[in-house]
Order: sequence, then structure tokens, then C-alpha cells
Amino acid sequence: MSNFTTTQTGTPVASDEHSLSHGADGAVVLHDRYLVEKLAQFNRERIPERIVHAKGGGAFGEFTVTEDVSKYTRAAVFQPGTTTETVQRFSSVAGEMGSPDTWRDVRGFALRFYSSEGNYDIVGNNTPVFFIRDGIKFPDFIHSQKRLPGSGLRDADMQWDFWTNSPESAHQVTYLMGDRGLPRSWREMPGFGSHTYQWINAAGERFWVKYHFVSNQGNVEMTGAEAEKIAGADADYYRRDLYENIAAGNFPSWDLFVQVMPYEDAKTYRFNPFDLTKVWPHADYPLIKVGTHTLNRNPENFFAQIEQVALSPANLVPGIAASPDKMLMARIFSYPDAQRYRVGTNYNQLPVNAPKAPVNNYSQDGYGRFAFNSPETPVYAPNTLGGPVADPALAGEGTWENDGALVRSAATLHSEDSDFGQAGTLYREVFDDAAKARFLETITGAVSGVQRPHIREAAIQYWTNVDAGLGAKLRASLAAGETTANEQAEYVGVAE
Ligand code: HEM
Repeated sequence: MSNFTTTQTGTPVASDEHSLSHGADGAVVLHDRYLVEKLAQFNRERIPERIVHAKGGGAFGEFTVTEDVSKYTRAAVFQPGTTTETVQRFSSVAGEMGSPDTWRDVRGFALRFYSSEGNYDIVGNNTPVFFIRDGIKFPDFIHSQKRLPGSGLRDADMQWDFWTNSPESAHQVTYLMGDRGLPRSWREMPGFGSHTYQWINAAGERFWVKYHFVSNQGNVEMTGAEAEKIAGADADYYRRDLYENIAAGNFPSWDLFVQVMPYEDAKTYRFNPFDLTKVWPHADYPLIKVGTHTLNRNPENFFAQIEQVALSPANLVPGIAASPDKMLMARIFSYPDAQRYRVGTNYNQLPVNAPKAPVNNYSQDGYGRFAFNSPETPVYAPNTLGGPVADPALAGEGTWENDGALVRSAATLHSEDSDFGQAGTLYREVFDDAAKARFLETITGAVSGVQRPHIREAAIQYWTNVDAGLGAKLRASLAAGETTANEQAEYVGVAE
């Protein structure tokens, strides 16, 4: 086989270094078709980056079910002894494609199982909760965390203005400003499905579940000073860590556990179990082990296999369904919509997205189409010509009862629901004294970036609502910081 450079249509080319020109110093001609093709192809190398979670990395692996959870779900991927190929992508949320990995942020933990019943994706984070509980607020939330339209700068005022006007964010902001906001690596952090999902067993019984991935590398974090230093020295610190560990045969793994709530408990549980800003304390619903996930293979081409991977909470399989969580419903629309735009209509035909199960339906055509049915298969349903038919056994799956009225209002409050309650518990009962001290330092730094007094005051009130003592400490440390800043300003003679 020759090793000649060719055009995209496979014909050998005359040169990769010299354009065709009229004489050595003459004009370049338009009919140098290889030059034109090469430049045009280059101009189209980029696709839009993800609107959130743009910076990330990933790898391939496998998930093995080590326990028997078949009494809760009939999903093939979770049946005893099953091993399934996987792809996983980790990410930061707010930064752009080239942003430093170690900026304080929530981290994405997104996993695809190439199951025998089609792709099943768990698209979660390294925290069990989220900032908001209704998808209609998501664009506003993300705008507030990204950049000002004029200066193109990130801005503490808009971050805290949004958070303090969205008190349901307190629990997640406590995670974010705590040690969880700066993991030492993607390998050393946990993962959560965060939402409540529905599991259905072979007898049709329904359960509510939450996913927890516990890192076998432990949970290890870094300090703000370390993270800042690394951000300058190596923007790709997490991506490099994952790649190098897998290349060296040091395969990271996570054990998957679920919390299982009997279907009927949801109505009377002390917290609304479909509110994404809440956890279910383990004392109420203990962790039940399912199996182990191991990452053991690096991508061969980052763009084709990681940049183009289209992970989505809409990718569900028989035995696993959505729940009445409003955020989850918004996401089920949002991801495939983003991916049709970002990767292209037929994104599910790309190798990293194509399921290992057969695809059988009546969709056809569109940009980049290369999979098609045989010409004998009818192009419509219903038909009498032997085309694929839907599975009636699935018709009753993924259901729940509701009261039938259409309203625009927040989810109902259960007995112990409040925006600040679980945030306060996290601060008081989970953080030890050293973690509390780091937390105060972090929120002092973050809130001191707020310029407008009324937003700064709202931020102090927000943390006072989480914990009165914390609010008082924040007020004092902000005042102390200002005194020091004024003293320094006077010292260098620039005080107004
Ligand atoms: C990525 C929307 C909430 C985790 C994305 C993307 C969109 C999006 C459009 C980019 C998808 C792509 O282009 O491939 C939303 C909306 C939300 C929401 C509308 C709220 C209604 C959440 C929550 C979590 C989450 C609650 C975690 C529990 C992720 C992750 C990714 C992502 C991990 C990156 C996936 C990957 O690695 O490719 N989100 N999101 N998002 N989102 Fe969300």
C-alpha cells in the first residue's frame, strides 16, 4: 500500500508544501483543489463547545455488577454478573474549553453504559444536589456564572445577586465553597446521579433511586492556594492526571451504590424526594451496593471520542425511568437539543455515540447520515410489510400519578423542607473545624469581590440563614479584610 498523501476523495496529491502558482513568485490559482480542500477543511475543525461543562476529559472502561439488585430493577445493565463497556467524561461547569481545570467549580461526572438494551447515561456531578429546582432558571443561573456582556469578565456581583435571590441554591453553594469545590483529581472525587430516578423490576414494581459513585482512590481535595498555583502552571492538570494514570496502568475505579425508596414513601417523606436541592440522609435510606466501574482505556482521538460524545439524561433503558423532578424533565429536552445543534442531527451514528444494541426505527436522512435501513424496510409505521414495531410491554413503564392540575408553582413542601436547612446541617455536622475555617476563608474571599453594598449585605444574610454564627463570622471577617485593605491603601498613599 502506498503512503501518498491523498485528497479526501482518495487521489494522490502532488505536494503538501507548495501551492500551485504561476511561476515560483506568481499568483496562487483557485483550481489547486487540494489547497482549497485543505484550507476549507481546516476552517471547519471546530464545533461549538458545550454551553456548560466545556472543559473536560474522559476515558473508556467497564462496569461490572457485583451484587443482586434485580428485585429493584429489571434493567439488563444492572443484572447480577453483567459487565458493560462504558465511556466517561469529567468536566468543570462554568469555564470555557481552555479554562484551567483547578478553578473552584462543581465537577461533571458523566457516564455512559453501552448496554445490551441501548445506551444508558448517568450525567451527574461530584455533588449530590444542584443550585436550582426548576429548569426554567438554568439559563439565568449559567449567565450569572459566566461573563458580563460588556467587559467579558466574570463578576462576583452577578453570581451573588443570583444566588441570594435563589435561596434554594444554598445547599449546593455550601458544597461549592467547601472542600468539594477543589478535588485533587477527577480520580479522587465521588460522583452522584443527583436526581431521583425510577427503577422498575420484572414484576412491574416501582422504586425511587439515587446513584452514588464512591471513589476507590478516596476523596482528596486541594487548598485554594494549591489550586491557584496549578491553574497558572498547568491548565490541563486533571486531564493530564487521568490520561497519565490510565496510560501507566493505574486504573481508577468507583463502587456504585444506590439509595432505594419504596414508591409510596415519596408522598410522606420528610423532604420532597424530587427536589434536586435536597439529599436523602443515609440514615433514612442506606447505600446499597450495585457494582464497580473501572476506567482502563484512554481515547485514541480526543475530538472524535470525547469532544463529540453526546451524553444525555434522556438516554434511559427499560427498567429505569425519569421521576417527577422538574429539573430532570428540562434536561431530558435540553441535551439532545444541544447535541443536534452542536454535533449534528445524526450525532448518534458517530462511533462513540452509536449504541452496541441494534437501532431500529423510521428516522431517515439529515446532515451526515450514513446509517440506513435496507431498501425493503418500509419508511412509515404502522405498516403491514414487516417493519419494526414498538414493544407494548414498555407502555406502562416510567409512570406515576399526579393531581392533574396545570400550575406554575414550586414543588410542594414536605414537613422538613426549607432552602437553608440541609445547607446548615452540611456546614455544622459534616464539616470539621478545619473545614469550617477553610469555608469561611473561601466565602470571605468570594463575597469580598462583590462591589454593590446591597448584594454584599444579601450575601451575609444568605449565610446567616444557613447558620447564624457563620453569618456573624463572615460579617466580621469581611470588615477585618476591609480594614486591612484600607490600611494598606493608606500606607501606599492611594486612599481617597
Ligand atoms: C452538560 C443543560 C442541569 C450535569 C450540559 C449541556 C447542556 C446542559 C445543554 C451540554 C450538552 C452537550 O452539548 O453535549 C442543562 C440544563 C440543566 C442542567 C438545562 C437544568 C435544567 C444539570 C445537572 C447536572 C448536570 C443538575 C448534574 C447533576 C451536566 C454534565 C454535563 C452537562 C456532567 C457534561 C456532559 C459531558 O461530559 O458531555 N448540561 N444541565 N447538568 N451537564 Fe447539564
